[in-house]
Amino acid sequence: MEDLTPPVAPTPPAMPAAETLILPPDILNRIDFASCFPSIQPVELELGAGDGSFLLRYSALHPERNFLGVERLLGRLRKIDRKGRRLGLTNLRALRLEAAYVLEWMIPPASLSALHVYFPDPWPKRRHWKRRLINERFTGLVARALRPGGRFYVRTDDASYFEQMTEVGNGQALFQPVAEPAELLAVITDFEADFNRDGIATRHAAWERKPNAPVQHPSPEARIAP
Ligand SMILES: C[S@@+](CC[C@H](N)C(=O)[O-])C[C@H]1O[C@@H](n2cnc3c(N)ncnc32)[C@H](O)[C@@H]1O
Repeated sequence: MEDLTPPVAPTPPAMPAAETLILPPDILNRIDFASCFPSIQPVELELGAGDGSFLLRYSALHPERNFLGVERLLGRLRKIDRKGRRLGLTNLRALRLEAAYVLEWMIPPASLSALHVYFPDPWPKRRHWKRRLINERFTGLVARALRPGGRFYVRTDDASYFEQMTEVGNGQALFQPVAEPAELLAVITDFEADFNRDGIATRHAAWERKPNAPVQHPSPEARIAP
């Protein structure tokens, strides 16, 4: 007799756990986020991610977003990788490179829904201020990397660096200041926890890339690969 039972679709294999969350650096091309994560979702970037104290918690809270952490120290990156895989985080990736290089050359224009920079090296001596990551040029690159409506979040314990951050953030024509959401405020980084324990004040600021401002594309000479 003919078998009329409908065929059963084979169960798709479970997504295998990533062997490493660390992306191989391809410094000649902008990152194709669709190929870095199992799902296409809004992407948030953290520059200077340290041991991943922020990213590991925040990416677990937001499985509907993808997160990329950039950190130059290999030991710290390995901790992010180890802990992230142990927690089964499929929406987290990490990259070992210079933060400013990644932002300028590897992030596609208008691709980020948020950029986080928490406790970047403050370079407290005035003659070293030129080494600080966040300056007028940097905020221009942030404005280019964020989607319209994307957010730029900063934190520091250094009063003079905070003054510089707020000056260049407020001075960026494509930004408008916004309040930091309470659920983000509640995620304390390792460095922040140390400052809190020692009674050192920390400062936070946030801006939104104006939703209706046009997207800026890099100039042709900014192309680094054919
Ligand atoms: C003071 S720690 C803060 C770490 C983390 N954001 C936190 O709040 O716990 C600064 C981190 O940025 C990293 N870093 C500093 N300059 C960097 C650069 N140019 N590119 C990538 N990472 C950098 C350092 O290695 C360090 O892990």
